[in-house]
Amino acid sequence: MDAQQMKQAVARAALDHVVPGRIVGVGTGSTVDCFIDALATIRQRIAGAVSSSERSTQRLRGHGIEVFGIDAIAERLPVYVDGADEIDPRGNMIKGGGAALTREKLVADLCERFVCIADASKRVEVLGRFPLPVEVLPLAAARLVQRFAAIGGRAVPREGVVTDNGLAILDVHGLAIDDPLAFEQEVSQWPGVLTVGVFARHRASLCLLGTPEGVRTIAY
Ligand code: A5P
Repeated sequence: MDAQQMKQAVARAALDHVVPGRIVGVGTGSTVDCFIDALATIRQRIAGAVSSSERSTQRLRGHGIEVFGIDAIAERLPVYVDGADEIDPRGNMIKGGGAALTREKLVADLCERFVCIADASKRVEVLGRFPLPVEVLPLAAARLVQRFAAIGGRAVPREGVVTDNGLAILDVHGLAIDDPLAFEQEVSQWPGVLTVGVFARHRASLCLLGTPEGVRTIAY
């Protein structure tokens, strides 16, 4: 299987985890695009979707799937399906390559289970090879660059990007995040940080990993 076939295979496999009659949480990215296309084949069986980005919302609606606003969801949803930029052996992830990390964390927080769909290249032993996205207040960016430097990270403002929330993204290079939960809790408290792209508190419950041999299911 090539990379695109792997994405389609994990997207199809994720349909087995969609709960009939319920709203499904939908993430963002090229793998999720394949999931949305697969979801369209069972759209009569779901109550609709809640989405982490405008990109996914448009694709869902294009398939005739009803999309509910995040703030309209009062109940706990059974499952969130999303990709990742990196995933470690415990299901901790780096996300935010598409700058949608805040809404992704919000939707993940609405859902009982996080089903991560990814190809095998995303699997790492320690998070940090992929530059860590952090959504920040622009006026705090210079101070945050210094704070990341103090812990060995080189934070680079993502040029030309304004997030859905009107804020900026720093991509932090050179980190080795060996305690993702502690790291997430610490950096989340730094003044000026809206969301850090480490998903440890909202780590994956399950990963459907695309490999050349087929889909591997990893439960955490
Ligand atoms: C979006 O902000 C990210 O968190 C994506 O989930 C991540 O970048 C994976 O995207 P791909 O499926 O395109 O690799």
